[in-house]
Amino acid sequence: MEYLKILGQNKLSGAVSISGAKNAALPLIACTILAKNEIKMGNLPNVVDINTFLKLIAKLGGTFTKENNTAKICTSNINNTTATYDIVKTMRASILVLGPILARFGHCEVSLPGGCAIGQRPVDLHLKALETMGAKIIINHGYIEASAPNGLKGSKIVFDKVTVGGTENIVMAAALAEGTTTIINAAKEPEIVQLCEVIASAGVEIQGIGTSTLIIEGTNKELLEIKDFDVIPDRIEAGTYMCAAAIRNEKIKIENVIPMHLDAVTSKLEEMNFEILQDETSVTILPTDEIKPVNIITTEYPGFPTDMQAQFMALATQANGTSTIDERLFENRFMHVSELLRLGADIHLNGNTATINGKNGTLNGTDVMATDLRASSALVLAALVASGETNIHRIYHLDRGYEDLEGKLTKIGANVKRFTE
Ligand code: EPZ
Repeated sequence: MEYLKILGQNKLSGAVSISGAKNAALPLIACTILAKNEIKMGNLPNVVDINTFLKLIAKLGGTFTKENNTAKICTSNINNTTATYDIVKTMRASILVLGPILARFGHCEVSLPGGCAIGQRPVDLHLKALETMGAKIIINHGYIEASAPNGLKGSKIVFDKVTVGGTENIVMAAALAEGTTTIINAAKEPEIVQLCEVIASAGVEIQGIGTSTLIIEGTNKELLEIKDFDVIPDRIEAGTYMCAAAIRNEKIKIENVIPMHLDAVTSKLEEMNFEILQDETSVTILPTDEIKPVNIITTEYPGFPTDMQAQFMALATQANGTSTIDERLFENRFMHVSELLRLGADIHLNGNTATINGKNGTLNGTDVMATDLRASSALVLAALVASGETNIHRIYHLDRGYEDLEGKLTKIGANVKRFTE
């Protein structure tokens, strides 16, 4: 297994370029299942989850080529409708093939995703919505078996909870359904906006893009001609590098971003007393005289993202005062706390709320273990500011979602090296 060795407290400076968004790219790859043509997708992040999803497309009978950050994907030859356990267990986002395959072929089987490091993460809302659209669904030997021999029917779906993956699955299913689907309480994340725009540019009428009510006119199984596109920049990767600048209290420019997608993160950094300059495609974080504490509640977009909670917790260890973080989306997303404690942080957990007493730079490097993607990035941030060496083990989590993390950090001055245990 590989681990990262970070020698902390190096001066950071310069600029870092942000890759395409993993969480936009995954549903976009799934949506190629709706198409009859080959699609060229640019700005794909070079991360393990993307390669896993492309492998899933190939297992289903589709084809792809990938060179650097561009893939060409063709699903016209799909002849298998089962997403098997071996892939789903490594990547829960595999559930995103359920809507498009079911809509196109009238049946689909997906291994039921289990719980994961951050919570139970059920998919009941995806299934309930597909049932409303006429699917029959049973769970058999650990597999979701969905069928709709006469096709899916446009329906009114009211999500009990805002769900990113659920909204994506139903948008894709609705695109090939018969008639109009209205999704109420839809998620509004930029990743969903891009998915809707790509499907809409293939001729599917979608009203309300970017709002919590989406109205989709299905094609009644007529496959789409999807145009080539580039994946939007990764707002969570960008936010993570913003926190790298902030935790070292240095000036860093974050390039290739859509600043508006970073509003919640920017506004919390401003509350922490950082000045942030923006232009059309970049944000620059400037150092501050005093890092102030902050109170954060995670919520759906456009609120503060759960995927940035762990990184802000690392940052809050450097604030002059006591911060709180209230995690509202996932019931077990504080696995990084015990590892931050090993680095010397002063954090108390009470249910879903973490209280972080800032200690102004008193973290000390040691061995820590990554537990999920964003928890791992919080450990990297803490290591950048800790004294001495920090070894971060199980970094395969980081490789799932951060392209060339060592390369990008090294370029801005960090001392980061990868080793094999
Ligand atoms: C997406 O997960 C992201 N993954 C997650 O990013 C992100 O943390 C999450 O959205 C929230 O923003 C991808 O986009 C691939 P949800 P998703 O359905 O779609 C509950 C990362 O680090 N729920 O919006 O799985 C659920 O348990 C990852 O990149 C149900 O109860 O999240 C959670 O409490 C981790 N039933 C809440 O809704 C369901 O059927 C939101 O989950 C579905 C969800």
